[in-house]
Amino acid sequence: MNNQVSMELLVSLCKRRGIIFQSSEPYGGIGGFWDYGPVGVELRNRIKSHWWRYMVQYRDDVVGLDTSIIAHPQTWVASGHVDSFSDPMVDCKQCKKRFRTDQIPDLEQCPACGGELTEPREFNLMFKTFVGPVQDDASVAYLRPETCQSIFTQFKNTMTTARKKPPFGIAQVGKSFRNEITPRNFIFRSREFEQMEMEFFCTAQESGRFYDYWVQERFNWFVNLGVRKENLRLRPHTADELAHYANGCTDVEYEFPFGWSELEGIADRGNYDLSQHAKVSGKDFSVVDDQTNEKYIPNVVESSVGVDRTLLTVLADAYREETVNGETRIVLKINPEIAPYQVAMFPLSKKLSEPAKKVEIALRKKFSIDFDAIGSIGKRYRRHDEVGTPFCVTYDFDSEEDHKVTVRSRDTMEQDRVSVDQLELYLEEKFKR
Ligand code: GAP
Repeated sequence: MNNQVSMELLVSLCKRRGIIFQSSEPYGGIGGFWDYGPVGVELRNRIKSHWWRYMVQYRDDVVGLDTSIIAHPQTWVASGHVDSFSDPMVDCKQCKKRFRTDQIPDLEQCPACGGELTEPREFNLMFKTFVGPVQDDASVAYLRPETCQSIFTQFKNTMTTARKKPPFGIAQVGKSFRNEITPRNFIFRSREFEQMEMEFFCTAQESGRFYDYWVQERFNWFVNLGVRKENLRLRPHTADELAHYANGCTDVEYEFPFGWSELEGIADRGNYDLSQHAKVSGKDFSVVDDQTNEKYIPNVVESSVGVDRTLLTVLADAYREETVNGETRIVLKINPEIAPYQVAMFPLSKKLSEPAKKVEIALRKKFSIDFDAIGSIGKRYRRHDEVGTPFCVTYDFDSEEDHKVTVRSRDTMEQDRVSVDQLELYLEEKFKR
């Protein structure tokens, strides 16, 4: 185990530093929902744009899409979610708690109070709502439990308007909702979360090759993001774990403080999804093979990862406790490219706020920067170490005379004296490495 952190420490750091708060805190919270604070939202956005750059911008064979959260309810009939997106669960007749049957040791006895349990019942995980003013069966709709189904229903529009032909992919980042029976492990399993999904369309003959390619590519993305390789592993699913239509599925797993768990799934879904939408909608989802001139419904290789799970991974992986001059410092050694703040600006004294602010404003368009004038410099270093700020810049009384500032590195804790007019260049060089 290469992590030094427990979930308790992470949850407390997240609250203390404005990364993640319990949703609806004044009302006692609401299970499975979380709010991201000023630091958390920066990290979240950087993870999403890192993924987008890697999966869409840097490639010429994947295009983006942004679809609505509520889709036509037939979408979820075609995908199989209405019939089978459920977990068997039992209720305790005494304490009224609800459990997933696969998460309790004994189906006879409540693990919380020892009370008698009901027979297992299927519990659909989709959140239901109504569209329009009348609340009847005809107006039922669902909050999407995954983002990919609208990629499938928009496959043809996207392909033609982007002038693509298989092999090519469609990527999307967006919210998904699942009424999880037991949300747990902080943001690892929640009821509202965000997914980054990419569906790659190809012929059946090519799908094995693309599946192998994407499994490796997705593993590489996490390494590129800064996650330590030794804390990641690939776990191919065994035959009895596979969905009936899937030809293969591999999870990227991370060694979380609560053990190895799924971070992302890469799946060869065959042509099940497009065929189902063709069948239920009556529309044509086939394409013409350039070589043979024959029509076929493409196969799909999917990569699907949660933003929140990735963020939890980044935090757990970056967390370090170091002893410096007999004191413990907590530091998040996040890849500087995705750090919530790249630079922090400290005026040594409140009296120096005005000139320090001028230096900060000049840097704002290039770097994500936090102006911090509260408390001793030592406290400010601690604060920024804890959110992973790679460089802290101090404007002191000498700066007034020599027009230089002190730049302190998060990782080495070394300090450089840098001319204010060279500061932007100096920082740019540092971020290149
Ligand atoms: N379209 C395929 C799909 O949605 P999944 O394995 O159900 O597959 C993919 O979900 C990824 O979405 C997971 O690997 C995980 O990262 C994230 N995810 C799924 N359920 C989640 C939940 N309740 N809370 C947070 N993330 C979740």
